[in-house]
Amino acid sequence: MNVLGIETSCDETAAAVYGSDGLQSNVIASQSIHYQYGGVVPELASREHIRLILPIIKQALAEANFKLHEIDGIAVTYGPGLVGSLLVGLNVAKGLAYSRRIPFIGVNHIEGHVFSVCLNRPDLNFPFIALVISGGHTQLVLVKSLGQYEILGRTLDDAAGEAFDKVSKMLDLGYPGGPIIDRVSAQGDEKFAQFPRSLLKEDGYAFSFSGLKTAVLYFLKRLTEEDRKKYVADIAASFQAALVEVLVEKTVAASRNHKIQNIVLAGGVARNSYLRKLIQARAQRDGIHVHIPDPILCTDNAAMIAWVGYHKFQNGEQSDYNLAPVPGLKL
Ligand code: KG4
Ligand code: ZN
Repeated sequence: MNVLGIETSCDETAAAVYGSDGLQSNVIASQSIHYQYGGVVPELASREHIRLILPIIKQALAEANFKLHEIDGIAVTYGPGLVGSLLVGLNVAKGLAYSRRIPFIGVNHIEGHVFSVCLNRPDLNFPFIALVISGGHTQLVLVKSLGQYEILGRTLDDAAGEAFDKVSKMLDLGYPGGPIIDRVSAQGDEKFAQFPRSLLKEDGYAFSFSGLKTAVLYFLKRLTEEDRKKYVADIAASFQAALVEVLVEKTVAASRNHKIQNIVLAGGVARNSYLRKLIQARAQRDGIHVHIPDPILCTDNAAMIAWVGYHKFQNGEQSDYNLAPVPGLKL
């Protein structure tokens, strides 16, 4: 069976082909139109998806060396995300499925992130602990099987990626903030400022990043314009260390307390090089295995959607034509 995956939940227009022989193509167009506004403009995102989706699907088929009639099913993100953006992908999926008389299935975007690691590690066994960290979500999940999830904790306020993006804006570094802070921090001293490690000492797996964001804001207010520029890498590195330390400690604690030896990172923030290094080092001490997808599979992509769709089709699942986008869809 070969599945075409489609992802249009936010500002990436993406298509991929996944089948019995693994991943055949993975095409992603990141919409750069939003950079000048310092964040995603929903109406512009929908229009870009309309403009890009068919060429991207054609490219994904061409790179996989497939014709549309060789596709047996379509998997598409139906939530969470921006409603206008989701509508574009969902309607294209329905149209293609109807014209070819093949099944389609709506996939939860967060579920896609959780399993993106399986594209690199097909032999990964259940159960595992997944830390899902993206622009809109931060949660720790105990994954028992495809479809069986126990949410251990989530953020009480900002998502991890959102905190990166907002602090980058405060530091005048630009958008999207995560990759910039990651790069700039490499030149900085993470011990320069002691920012709060929110909820680190509390039991449980809830996260909170808005206090950290405010602490950075007040720290900056006390500096002169000149010092802000001079110490920008140190401040970025100190912020990053505070946020990442909490992510790592809570995730390792979840793994230890539930006696689950496998940890999976998922979502755009899992690209962060400081996090990738710290969690590997920390887990090694406790004999825990950490699995992190290739960077291109951490941020939004359609390969992860195709993977989930393929396995749900194999389980006999499919969607029907009145499936509507669900912007606030939960795992
Ligand atoms: O998963 P994703 O592509 O989209 C959502 O589903 O939200 O995640 C995007 C988020 C953005 O907030 C971006 O700043 C962050 O992931 N991000 C990073 C890095 N690369 C992307 N955060 C920290 N370090 C990075 N290297
Ligand atoms: Zn995402």
